[in-house]
Amino acid sequence: MWDKERRNVTITENKSINPLLDKKDYFVLGIESSCDETAASVVRNDSKILSNVISSQFETHRPYGGVVPELAARAHVDKIDLIVEEAMRSAQINYNDLSAIAATGGPGLIGGVLVGTTFGKAMAFANNLPFIAVNHLEGHALTPRLTHHINFPYLLLLASGGHCQLLTVKGVGEYELLGSTIDDAIGEAFDKTAKLLGLGFPGGPALEKTALDGDGKRYNFPKPLAGRPGCDFSFSGLKTAVRYTVDNLPNLTKKNQADLAASFQETVVSILNDRCANAISIFQEKNGSNGIFVAAGGVAANMPIRNGLTSLASDYNMDFIAPPLNLCTDNAAMIAWAGLEKLKIGHCTNLDFAPRPRWSLNEL
Ligand code: KG4
Ligand code: ZN
Repeated sequence: MWDKERRNVTITENKSINPLLDKKDYFVLGIESSCDETAASVVRNDSKILSNVISSQFETHRPYGGVVPELAARAHVDKIDLIVEEAMRSAQINYNDLSAIAATGGPGLIGGVLVGTTFGKAMAFANNLPFIAVNHLEGHALTPRLTHHINFPYLLLLASGGHCQLLTVKGVGEYELLGSTIDDAIGEAFDKTAKLLGLGFPGGPALEKTALDGDGKRYNFPKPLAGRPGCDFSFSGLKTAVRYTVDNLPNLTKKNQADLAASFQETVVSILNDRCANAISIFQEKNGSNGIFVAAGGVAANMPIRNGLTSLASDYNMDFIAPPLNLCTDNAAMIAWAGLEKLKIGHCTNLDFAPRPRWSLNEL
């Protein structure tokens, strides 16, 4: 039986440093299940990733051309215990070596988030460990501190399947939103365009691959909001322009597919550089020229985007970094790391935490 008194004794939500942190080395288990990856990872406080296990559901969703929430939730239930067990086994540690268990608490598909948080809470309760609900976006946002040990503040482009935002990351839980998409997320634009071009699922990587053989100058697509002040994005007009072009082609040949993919991607790079240039100016005005420009989230795995942002940053005498490709797309190491960062400042979560399908970084 759940007992509120007992819960409050075992799992605290105070701001004091957890006594377990007197240990020289400490470990956090992270669980990610907010979309179509069931993942678990153990990370040590010196940013060593001891294990990083991911089970992707691509095959489950491929026939539908997109993620089916009900199927995703069932697949998470099927796999979660095995994935966590594998993460613990390959990290070669026991539950009593852990200092906390972190799980994605949102935003995301509610079925999956429920599976991950329920599993994480149960394991935390059973092992008398603190539980930490991590905002998935915060996981992406803090990854560059895991991979490149950078200091606050930094400028972040968060480019994923559900989001496209520019933020100043001032500290753990301290995010200042500079701009955001007013319609489609950037990953959504990649995925929908890939689907339109018949490139399959998942769309982003397929489109990047197809574009390698294409002429990015063949089609002149619109660049919504480009040239305007501010840091907001818009991608839906671009996607619609690709649709009209496809509808007016007699045949969607391999050559057309590749040229359309390359032209779409080149337009996205140009939109991003335009909006990020404004954000860099705003960031540098407030923070001087020392900060770092960072891209994170699944779309930051795209090479032309990484190259475009690298040269933009150098125009402004700024360093640009992006995590390695496998830590841009969804993974649990970022959740374990964000959990670790929160644990260090004593931010644990009560077991009555309710998963949040919507949870913006501003609310942290
Ligand atoms: O961060 P992420 O793994 O999941 C979310 O939090 O949404 O991002 C997934 C998105 C998908 O839309 C996927 O198509 C896109 O990232 N993506 C890419 C690439 N790899 C993943 N988009 C463009 N180029 C890529 N190489
Ligand atoms: Zn993500």
